[in-house]
Amino acid sequence: MKNVILIGFMGAGKTTVGERYGEKHGLPMVDTDWLIEERAGMTISEIFAQKGEDEFRRTETAVLQTLLSDTQEKVISVGGGLPLREENRRLLKQLGTVIYLEVNPDTVLKRLKGDTTRPLLQGGDVTRRVEELIAARGPIYREAAGLIVDVNGRSVDEIVTELEERMGFE
Ligand code: S3P
Repeated sequence: MKNVILIGFMGAGKTTVGERYGEKHGLPMVDTDWLIEERAGMTISEIFAQKGEDEFRRTETAVLQTLLSDTQEKVISVGGGLPLREENRRLLKQLGTVIYLEVNPDTVLKRLKGDTTRPLLQGGDVTRRVEELIAARGPIYREAAGLIVDVNGRSVDEIVTELEERMGFE
């Protein structure tokens, strides 16, 4: 399949970059978190609180399976933890070109200051958690991706242009 898929840590800009890329190329854009919220009729925070993270992770896999049966080419941004399951990485590769938007902890902390929508970043030592999660997930994101784009200190337009160049739209 020829979808464009954006993976990376929370705050990397997957949704924003995906929307801009989709607009420029006339492709619809979906975000797996939106699809999960729609299915559950609840927000991500409510799902984590009421059903637990394991159930959320199972739904992520189910959503990828549904996307595989959708032949409309699109841009797909996925939740930051979705590529952690090996099965999901396999499904992502089947879905299209996987692009890792690589972000460092400083950028994430600046962008997500005051955010209340990400259950994994509420309370406690958020700086430390972000550093640890990025360190643990980095190799997994790299393994899942066909292309890696550094997003630190760069505008959405710059990132989209690099994506286009690297995907052969010069
Ligand atoms: C998560 C990232 C979130 C959302 C959920 C869990 C994670 O998505 O799926 O809060 O485990 O990194 P974004 O990456 O779109 O913020």
